[in-house]
Amino acid sequence: MLEARDRDYVEHRVRAGVLEQGTVDLLGELGVGERMEREGIVHGGIYVQFDGERHHLPMRELTGRSIVIYGQTEVVKDLIAARLESGAPLHFDVEGVSMHELESERPVIRYTHDDATHELECDVIAGCDGFHGVCRSSIPDGVLKTFEREYPFGWLGILADVAPSIDELVYAHHERGFALLSLRSPELSRYYVQVRHDEDVVEWPDERIWEELQLRTALDGWTLHEGPILEKGVTGMRSFVTEPMQYGRLFLAGDAAHIVPPTGAKGLNLAIHDVRLLGEALVRWYTDGDGALLDAYSQACLRRVWRAEHFSYWMTSMLHRVGDDPFDLQLQLSQLRYLTTSRAAATSLAENYVG
Ligand code: PHB
Repeated sequence: MLEARDRDYVEHRVRAGVLEQGTVDLLGELGVGERMEREGIVHGGIYVQFDGERHHLPMRELTGRSIVIYGQTEVVKDLIAARLESGAPLHFDVEGVSMHELESERPVIRYTHDDATHELECDVIAGCDGFHGVCRSSIPDGVLKTFEREYPFGWLGILADVAPSIDELVYAHHERGFALLSLRSPELSRYYVQVRHDEDVVEWPDERIWEELQLRTALDGWTLHEGPILEKGVTGMRSFVTEPMQYGRLFLAGDAAHIVPPTGAKGLNLAIHDVRLLGEALVRWYTDGDGALLDAYSQACLRRVWRAEHFSYWMTSMLHRVGDDPFDLQLQLSQLRYLTTSRAAATSLAENYVG
């Protein structure tokens, strides 16, 4: 396992925070869910706010499943601890990673670690190195088909040292732009506001962020509590899929193969689903020499990937301010009213959201 960054960096960068039931179950089955079971916060629904009203979508009642709030950084800490305890290699601060002989049955990774150059001959390579990683870009031109959409906005996200002001997540549609109220723990809130895709965070002093959050989430009789901002950053929004998720013995997983905008909270869950299938396929291959699951890997992942792509695109389009077209605005409001008045529409969102 080769990691370009240092351990402290990967254990502290703020990332996703919503785990689907299937993700929670898998971490439990693998024996790495103990702290998550203790510290994770179970949520049975979300709120959707628009037109000055906040509506509750009771996802557990509609689907029988829930989500758990537990930061990706916490999952990463737990996985690193388990890996180190197993004694299997995990190298941080690895540099100059390159892929070779990908057409052969023994692909090779070259890398530098502790000032020494290494060559690793592999049975298979799991490319879990993100959108900008070396794995996907090592596949020759013309092999992969890609599908892409960029959005003209991004999210400015903050981590604030203040207890969440509400019991579940709030997705708010507002004429000034989208806002999201989330959390990381009973003491830490994670909030977002829609901004331009190229927004400079320097233009957002803390007071301006709070003011914008207050305006976009305001509700009579309810208060958004403010606190010190510990972290802030702008995330771009993109939809991206590459097919197939395999080249010879190199298998792509997670953001190396696909990106979703964060609105549906799917990115981390999709990545975990990919590696679940890849893990099962590798176990089958190593135990019975049967490569059928490995051969089916890409297709099996992509079914779920495309469902999440559509859901994330749909949530994004429904909730963000895209331009000034009044027709688009009326379509959004109509969809939101449908969602909050039809059990069928709410169930459809809930099924996709809980995974
Ligand atoms: C988060 O808590 O970071 C979060 C929650 C829900 C989303 C996206 C991000 O849809």
